[in-house]
Amino acid sequence: MCCSNPAFYISVYVLAVNLFGLYLRFVYFHNYFECFACRELDFKDQAYDYIVVGSGSAGSIVARRLAENPSVKVLLIEAGASGNGILQIPTVSLMLQDSVFDWQYRTVPQKHACLGLDKKVSHWPMGKILGGTAMLNNMIYVRGHPQDFAEWYKDSCNFNYTIDVLPYFKKLESNETNKHKCSVFVEDMPFKSNLSDYFLQAGLCLGFGLSDGVNSEPGFSATKVTMRNGQRWTPYHQLEKTKKRNLVVITNSLVEKVLLKSNYEAYGVKYTHLDETYYVRATKGVILSAGVIGSPKILMLSGIGPKKHLEKLKIAPRLDLPVGENLQDHVTTGLDLITLEAPPDMGLQQMLSPWSASRYFLWGEGPWTSPGCESVGFFNSEDEKIPELQFMILPYGAAIDGGSYLRGLVGIGERLWEGYFRRVNGSTMTVLPVVLHPKSRGTVRLKSKDPRTPPLIDPNYLAEGYDVDILLEGIELVKEFLETPPMRRLGAKLNAVKFPGCEGLEFDTRPYWVCYVRHFTLSSYHPVGTCALGRVIDEGFQVKGTNKLYVVDGSVLPSLPSGNPQGAIMMMAERAAEIIKHHCWLSQRRCCSSDVFQDQCSCY
Ligand SMILES: Cc1cc2nc3c(=O)[nH]c(=O)nc-3n(C[C@H](O)[C@H](O)[C@H](O)COP(=O)(O)OP(=O)(O)OC[C@H]3O[C@@H](n4cnc5c(N)ncnc54)[C@H](O)[C@@H]3O)c2cc1C
Ligand SMILES: *[C@@H]1O[C@H](CO)[C@@H](O)[C@H](O)[C@H]1NC(C)=O
Ligand SMILES: *[C@@H]1O[C@H](CO)[C@@H](O)[C@H](O)[C@H]1NC(C)=O
Ligand SMILES: *[C@@H]1O[C@H](CO)[C@@H](O)[C@H](O)[C@H]1NC(C)=O
Ligand SMILES: *[C@@H]1O[C@H](CO)[C@@H](O)[C@H](O)[C@H]1NC(C)=O
Repeated sequence: MCCSNPAFYISVYVLAVNLFGLYLRFVYFHNYFECFACRELDFKDQAYDYIVVGSGSAGSIVARRLAENPSVKVLLIEAGASGNGILQIPTVSLMLQDSVFDWQYRTVPQKHACLGLDKKVSHWPMGKILGGTAMLNNMIYVRGHPQDFAEWYKDSCNFNYTIDVLPYFKKLESNETNKHKCSVFVEDMPFKSNLSDYFLQAGLCLGFGLSDGVNSEPGFSATKVTMRNGQRWTPYHQLEKTKKRNLVVITNSLVEKVLLKSNYEAYGVKYTHLDETYYVRATKGVILSAGVIGSPKILMLSGIGPKKHLEKLKIAPRLDLPVGENLQDHVTTGLDLITLEAPPDMGLQQMLSPWSASRYFLWGEGPWTSPGCESVGFFNSEDEKIPELQFMILPYGAAIDGGSYLRGLVGIGERLWEGYFRRVNGSTMTVLPVVLHPKSRGTVRLKSKDPRTPPLIDPNYLAEGYDVDILLEGIELVKEFLETPPMRRLGAKLNAVKFPGCEGLEFDTRPYWVCYVRHFTLSSYHPVGTCALGRVIDEGFQVKGTNKLYVVDGSVLPSLPSGNPQGAIMMMAERAAEIIKHHCWLSQRRCCSSDVFQDQCSCY
């Protein structure tokens, strides 16, 4: 009786979400008191060679690689708490959003986009925990297209993908022989819903073949994920497994600024831990890996950034650099845009079943290991090599929990819920058309001198007409996707409820879709670019005009790769670690006059 009623599962789900929320607070305070105890350890009076700020994907790789030399002492400083193994359950990540383990960033109200969302803002979750944002991401592993990297290094002589990029991807990805040496585990999804094969078939019917999924070649594939035996796996976990005494990790410690000698040479950082201020020194270098918001923020608080902006905030400017500019993100739309006749075998009922829990804990499989997005597809226009659109396909939408929790995470307010999502009959699914190379650029600026104040984030979504055009192209492709026999067999149809704010326009016309994408603009959560290579840092990852100060994380990507960015960020981190360690990299074997470390070309 109970078990056929969706309302029953929704109430159990709400209970579970609330209990888990309490559990997260408990973990947080437990971590905090553990940390209180560790205060006794005299880490702060030690002299370090390197300080790495931020334990996300990039920071963990750099710290671990630098500490491979046992005589090099490395301190890794993380603002968030340590978390625990329960938080590595893949499906738990949605509940980490808006929790104590999330920075809970919001953009400023958007002018051209997000018009239907609560306050016209986009929610930007980011991990504030050991492991960083990879603790709450969808684990999709994509390398990106070789042309992406050629574009980043177009001003560098001798750049060659096979020599300068590919070896670092191989170094970071797990394979049969490098289980201890790799930086992350990449596996096939251990569990798929019963719709997953239909998605791939539909992709084939569209005329796009199967692809390997990681190299962003046109085609569809099942998602490759950063998991180890069904458990979420991040570079931090790899660091923890191989950690030696010369690498010290401290948590709950917010880095406020970089200490600079004569305005250009980094010699340490200032941070606060349990309300006390500390200064810690590094003799060889400070590496900022605090992410696309955190790194520009620390630089600006240290006086490195746009001069006028810093002066306005009464921060003494030391170096005038375009820090915080060039912000870009994979913009998307289309949550719940498709209705289905029958639900997938992965809804609340399956999620909440004790059987799913057993499958996870005993065998590392089942619905609890789902990354959400089960298939990815890449599309290029005829004359372009680099794909311009990506599909991320999810067998459900935000309506899956009856509006009890998920809608809040993306900023779907009461009015939008009542006017759109609640009116849908039956179940929904989602094909997100992602603009891979948007032209709109935004900014990250300080709101105040206080390091605890979140900065002003403005992605400036859909400021450029190109981004709207590609989203509309994406919606046309979604419609073609729905016309394929496999999707018809699922009874998949375009959700015909008119989007609130666009009621006056005729459904399924160009003006309607323009209105729709401007109202229902979503982030794929892939911001990059705020300390870009070539603008803020040089090819050696050093902040221009400084010494011993590096940035290594998503902020250094000069533009977005053709796919989910964590793979490219980790590749860059491997590259940076090698450069910082040896003061040169592989292609330096082929020196040419413009190389940064020309004098050290013989280091190999
Ligand atoms: C919901 C969601 C889903 C995603 N899905 C995918 C996906 O499926 N595939 C993919 O490739 N990408 C995905 N991404 C994006 C991807 O996770 C990020 O691009 C990537 O993890 C960024 O890594 P990073 O090392 O640059 O920064 P982060 O991982 O954000 O690391 C920064 C670290 O620095 C710490 N920090 C910040 N400021 C300070 C300070 N002042 N002092 C000390 N520490 C500080 C932070 O707490 C954090 O731990 C997703 C993102 C989100 C939010
Ligand atoms: C890049 O290097 C590979 C391997 O050495 C070589 O086969 C290839 O021709 C090079 N590509 C270019 C464009 O030089
Ligand atoms: C496994 O990874 C190592 C680097 O970690 C690489 O040298 C090796 O070629 C890889 N092996 C295979 C089979 O890909
Ligand atoms: C998938 O499983 C669900 C629940 O078991 C069922 O209702 C649905 O018909 C199945 N769909 C397909 C396409 O097999
Ligand atoms: C949903 O079902 C209700 C009641 O059967 C009907 O009035 C409504 O038009 C349906 N909505 C859509 C979008 O099909």
